[in-house]
Amino acid sequence: MKELNIIILAAGLGKRMNSSLPKVLHSLAGKPLLSHALDTANALLPHKICVVYGHGNDAVREAIGKNELIWVKQEPQLGTGHALMQTLPHLDKKGLTLVLYGDVPLISLETLQKLISASSKENLALLTVRLDDPTGYGRIVRDTEANNIIAIVEDKDTNIDQQKIKEINTGIMVIPNANLHEWLPKLENKNSQKEYYLTDIVAIAAKAGKKIEAAHPSNNWEVLGVNSKVQLAALERTYQKNYAEKLLEQGVTLIDASRIDVRGKLNCGKDVEIDINCIFEGEVILGDRVKIGAHCILKNVKIKAATIIFPFSLIEDADIGKNCRVGPFSRIRPGTSLADKIHVGNFVEIKNSSINSGSKINHLSYIGDATVGKKVNVGAGTITCNYDGVNKFQTVIEDNVFIGSDTQLIAPVKITNGSTIGAGSTITMNTPPEELSLSRSKQRSIPGWKRPTKK
Ligand code: UD1
Ligand code: CA
Repeated sequence: MKELNIIILAAGLGKRMNSSLPKVLHSLAGKPLLSHALDTANALLPHKICVVYGHGNDAVREAIGKNELIWVKQEPQLGTGHALMQTLPHLDKKGLTLVLYGDVPLISLETLQKLISASSKENLALLTVRLDDPTGYGRIVRDTEANNIIAIVEDKDTNIDQQKIKEINTGIMVIPNANLHEWLPKLENKNSQKEYYLTDIVAIAAKAGKKIEAAHPSNNWEVLGVNSKVQLAALERTYQKNYAEKLLEQGVTLIDASRIDVRGKLNCGKDVEIDINCIFEGEVILGDRVKIGAHCILKNVKIKAATIIFPFSLIEDADIGKNCRVGPFSRIRPGTSLADKIHVGNFVEIKNSSINSGSKINHLSYIGDATVGKKVNVGAGTITCNYDGVNKFQTVIEDNVFIGSDTQLIAPVKITNGSTIGAGSTITMNTPPEELSLSRSKQRSIPGWKRPTKK
């Protein structure tokens, strides 16, 4: 939106978090609280975003510090009205300002669009909700004749009648910039908390004959703030429940929708099935008919159609092709790509390697810095010795190679087309194609040998 300014208040220290990390840097769904508010703000395509941060909160600026943001320090913190006063030099003269909070992470784009539509160049718009227990919140005061909003009274300043009002101020509001420039400097702190209340501009607006609109969030949890670890944990569950419901609506099968955690983006094709206790981080793309077994962790992974990941597998920064079978207990590390029809089994670790179609690495192996051809069989316990303590070296295994169990491939080394490696070999030289290579001493037996006896 061309004429939109957004202010995000994030000056509070968050003492009740009992943490040395500033409140707005605590993570929800793998992302700092403030980043949630920022991402939603950015989705409105505003002209500018100001973040108000406070004393002791330089870490916030350092952690989030994007150039396109305007960082405004509020020191000392004398209330929400005072926080907005600090932004005045940066606000446009025309257009609207939307006020958001760094500790209110789940506010939706849809709700904000509703709120902005309710306002205009002339009017303020407040996001309000009705609560059975409004204690602690600013109350929305309406006149008795036309039911127009005439003021917000802070909880600590309410009289007995106002205490009964169930419509409360969520704090999120839209105010024309011209009004902010005019009214913010006039705010006073003659109230029970000796603070400059942003909410006082509502009475000023009403006295000036302005209409004050109210809009409501699509869901009440959108306006919940985080003041403690208890509230953070509750909002995390809310977020995850909503994400799981979205996946179910798209047709994904979740064996238990309350036991999935998405800390990023999860894109699923048709008929994807996800068993319990999986964690998805960063961007994960699952093709049609992919199955993810229980207790898997996938981070920045692309998996093509019909591949099955068996339980307890950990996969990070990897591409996996069609019709593969990975796990149980596989670890696929960054830089790995598996082509189609690959089998990777239990206790196999693969790092920075590409494996071509139809190959199998089924048991207890480490494959690092390797290129593996088509239809290769890597026997149990095969290790690519890729590191000499200082440098890393490549292993090349060409098509149709068969590697016997318990083999060490000392890199750099090339196992040529169709080679067979005898079990228990330590391979230090390139092998010729289509031949058997092995490096182990001949078996012998010692006649007459006796086991030792106790002396
Ligand atoms: C505020 C509203 C109240 C509303 C409630 C919703 C005012 C005066 N009151 O009350 O009507 O019902 O939110 O939760 O606005 N902050 C700053 N600088 C300051 C003070 C606050 O950045 O000097 C930030 C805080 O970090 C916090 C937010 O503004 O994120 C709200 O401040 P808080 O003091 O918690 O306001 P409430 O008393 O809860
Ligand atoms: Ca509060």
